[in-house]
Amino acid sequence: GRVAVVMGGSSAEREVSLDSGRNVLAALKARGVDAHAIDGIPALLDALRAGHFARVFNILHGQHGGGEDGVLQGALESLNVPYTGSGLLGSALSMDKTRSKRVWQSLGLPTPKFAALPRGADVHVAAREIGFPLIVKPACEGSSVGVTRVFEEKDLDAAVELAARYPGDLLMETLIEGDELTVAVLGREVLPSIHIVPQGAFYDYNAKYVAEDTRYICPGLQGEAESELRMLALAAFDALGCSGWGRVDVMRDRAGRNWLLEVNTAPGMTSHSLVPKAAAAAGITYEELCWRVLETSLD
Ligand code: DAL
Ligand code: MG
Repeated sequence: GRVAVVMGGSSAEREVSLDSGRNVLAALKARGVDAHAIDGIPALLDALRAGHFARVFNILHGQHGGGEDGVLQGALESLNVPYTGSGLLGSALSMDKTRSKRVWQSLGLPTPKFAALPRGADVHVAAREIGFPLIVKPACEGSSVGVTRVFEEKDLDAAVELAARYPGDLLMETLIEGDELTVAVLGREVLPSIHIVPQGAFYDYNAKYVAEDTRYICPGLQGEAESELRMLALAAFDALGCSGWGRVDVMRDRAGRNWLLEVNTAPGMTSHSLVPKAAAAAGITYEELCWRVLETSLD
């Protein structure tokens, strides 16, 4: 049947999603799939009610109309339309980094020390408790929007102000200094990890989508360390009730300990994105990857 590739939407990651979506659409078409672009949730729901599509490839990113936070998944469940990726619970939990961390903590999975900050909370008290350096983020955004690393208390207010421009609570966590790693999950397969080496201070929005000099090492680790990282990533993914596909972001400190940061349930699929790179290292072409993600809608 016809496949709706839903992209764009109204989140802070709209442009990233359009870029991901255009690439996915072209790949599915090249595989002979009758795939069509749809921009955003309202247009998708209209088209589904009119009976235009048999299934949905969801490549929306982010919350609030972003389609990655469970709202779309719940609507699709109620319409009985198959869709790619995690269901309502896994999507909603993964979108909220603070609550993801609480689940991991309760299972003894490693995640950096943190404080959840409702608006108006005393950020200085929380920061002294956590200690510097720390990182301030909106709890429910993606692509590093609104994220600042804070090394001294004098820079805290500006960081909080920036994060507060986005909806929802703020998350403050210990800054793990070391290597940024990410692990993609595809079906029940865990792909080789990627060690990201940004040329700037960290893997921010610019390093993710604009800079051409960000380096990617895949697999990111070797031998036992790589297997341990992949097992941790799968445990983190399962703990949040995720399914289908996704990407688990991790920091590895200088002592070689891994720390879970977050799970992305509709990870980027742009030409700069990580899951396509991990797939390539596993011998899976971009087209094949899109096909395999589409297949996750059948489960
Ligand atoms: N949130 C972006 C799209 C990612 O995780 O790839
Ligand atoms: Mg994210």
